[in-house]
Amino acid sequence: MANVVVVGLQWGDEAKGKVVDYLSQDADVVVRYNGGNNAGHTVVLGNDEIYKFHIVPAGILNPSITSVIADGVVIDPAVLVEEFGRLQSHGVSLDRLKISGNAHVIMPYHKMLDRLEEESKGAKKIGTTGRGIGPAYADKISRVGIRVSELIDMDQFSTRLSDCLKRKNAILTKIYGAEPLDEAEVFAEYKGLGEAITPYVTDTALFLHKAARENKKIVFEGAHGTLLDIDHGTYPYVTSSHTVAGGACIGTGIGPTLISNVIGVAKAYTTRVGEGWFPTELLDETGDYIRERGREYGTTTGRPRRCGWFDAVAVRLSARLSAVRCIAFISLDVLSGLDKLRVCSAYRVNGGIIRDFPSDAAVLRECTPVYDELPGWKEDISGATSLDDLPANARDYLTHAAEVVGYPIAIASVGRRREQTLVIRPDLLES
Ligand code: IMO
Ligand code: MG
Repeated sequence: MANVVVVGLQWGDEAKGKVVDYLSQDADVVVRYNGGNNAGHTVVLGNDEIYKFHIVPAGILNPSITSVIADGVVIDPAVLVEEFGRLQSHGVSLDRLKISGNAHVIMPYHKMLDRLEEESKGAKKIGTTGRGIGPAYADKISRVGIRVSELIDMDQFSTRLSDCLKRKNAILTKIYGAEPLDEAEVFAEYKGLGEAITPYVTDTALFLHKAARENKKIVFEGAHGTLLDIDHGTYPYVTSSHTVAGGACIGTGIGPTLISNVIGVAKAYTTRVGEGWFPTELLDETGDYIRERGREYGTTTGRPRRCGWFDAVAVRLSARLSAVRCIAFISLDVLSGLDKLRVCSAYRVNGGIIRDFPSDAAVLRECTPVYDELPGWKEDISGATSLDDLPANARDYLTHAAEVVGYPIAIASVGRRREQTLVIRPDLLES
């Protein structure tokens, strides 16, 4: 087998798209399996062309790759069809795109409820992307969601929409005092969107199973980060899908024995968007320095990301949860110019020191970081093509981070472009 799952090891935005793009150069299939358009991947190609993706897998740019949007994804069809248009206007063919009929559809009421629920929580809000992700997954689990296979069958869709709107309009008007949705309007809009999606809908689990059995190289493109996992993340400040590597099995219908490698992606520092705990957050000018140099503003919402030091305790938890073979260490170049760097190697809590990320939110809330301090470097490292090109302090920082996390670093990245990738342990990237 030759497949690999790529997962984020922090709170999202680890530049997974860059690693997926790198690993996809010789891939046959790239698959999105979780989340929806709350994810955002930016891929920069050689000529500095920037592509932003929210739903379609980044593999679509490579004409020899089949791109799959699998069962576990929630799809906002309006956003998907808009993404189709943008890709086609750049001359990108959609011929090799496949969409699962089991994926759930984000409806207008999901987006309204996402915003209304957040507003009603006041200071206790999650800070969601407002894309309707949580309410769509809630409907899926409650067994009242609308699947893509129903969206593209107008008879089924009209009955399902009618049933759903009765309940949702009651919630919108009676609980939130909002305007009800008009059934005919929603039907007309979604009918057109369903038609645009129809040619791509197929049994993606069967397709992927055959591809895996034929030893095709499949890259499973995880969205978000492990600490945003619905079960294992920093609940309730999480997203509503499975972001651990196991999510690739759940979200595609591929069994665990058919997965051959897992690569975790972590930035050389930490960022987080939205609310929730962040022990190593920097609220000073160092945080601002990282935000500006790293261009840490959301791909999806444009929100400034909260920035902080590298948290090896958190990354160690994520690496364990996904049983990664190795780590891709991203954006090392962003740290150039800082006098001193810090790596959080443990937490101080209740008068003691702990090395394992606490599973109890009440304990996590009390944790403060224990830092190892390392000297920084002044050199611009964005032109480095191998470890030897890095200043000694940058090499030491990378080695220290790997040691404290306890997993090997196989790739280091010193810039956004594909060629700004240092491959340190190619053996660990093999599937
Ligand atoms: P990528 O794929 C960063 C965060 C949101 C919010 C929480 C819940 O780009 O790494 P949701 O809209 O999912 O219900 O919001 O999760 N979040 C992300 N943060 N990158 C992402 O994806 C994220 N996806 C969700 O900011 O705090
Ligand atoms: Mg993001």
